[in-house]
Amino acid sequence: MRPIIKEVVTPMITKEQIDKRLDELARAIEADFTGETLTVVCTLKGAVVFFVDLVKKLNIPLKMDFIEAASYGDAQNSSGIVKINKDLTNTISGEHVLLVEDIIDTGATLSQMVAHLRRQRPQSFKICALLDKPSRRIVHDIQPDYVGFEIEDKFVLGYGLDYLQRYRNLPYIATMKLIEE
Ligand code: IMP
Ligand code: MG
Repeated sequence: MRPIIKEVVTPMITKEQIDKRLDELARAIEADFTGETLTVVCTLKGAVVFFVDLVKKLNIPLKMDFIEAASYGDAQNSSGIVKINKDLTNTISGEHVLLVEDIIDTGATLSQMVAHLRRQRPQSFKICALLDKPSRRIVHDIQPDYVGFEIEDKFVLGYGLDYLQRYRNLPYIATMKLIEE
């Protein structure tokens, strides 16, 4: 008989903590781009909730664009092989670009996506990640410029992050464990 697997979800970062941290990130980003127009690039789908909340707090002229890179692997780990499923709509040549990412784990997805975007020669390029798991890093060639929260090596979901495409709509960030029953 196959065991029943239960998904145990435990809240880790509250809505209020996220909101407060996003205010701080927005002030830091505004200070770095005073007098400039910023192109904010959302990585689909994981960063979409974070992106929407962050851009609403940014009091500078900005453009939005979207990119989707899939890193193949199992439900909880990426394989390191990245494919661009959906590319930007507009050129970023000569633009100030801020890439908004959900989470940096091994760094493989981000590294390949950054290499892809930099080929267009933006004037400047910065990275903002909601979550960072530095202890998991394998690819060290890119560093985020802004990080919401540094977390331990735990599988997290909610606020855009998924487990098998579910839980993205949770308004907070939680950890999840699979328990056999
Ligand atoms: P990396 O290429 O190993 O850095 O993996 C980054 C991607 O894997 C993220 O953009 C997420 O889509 C996914 N990922 C990594 N860790 C987690 C997690 O704890 N929860 C949900 N998705 C994750
Ligand atoms: Mg994912």
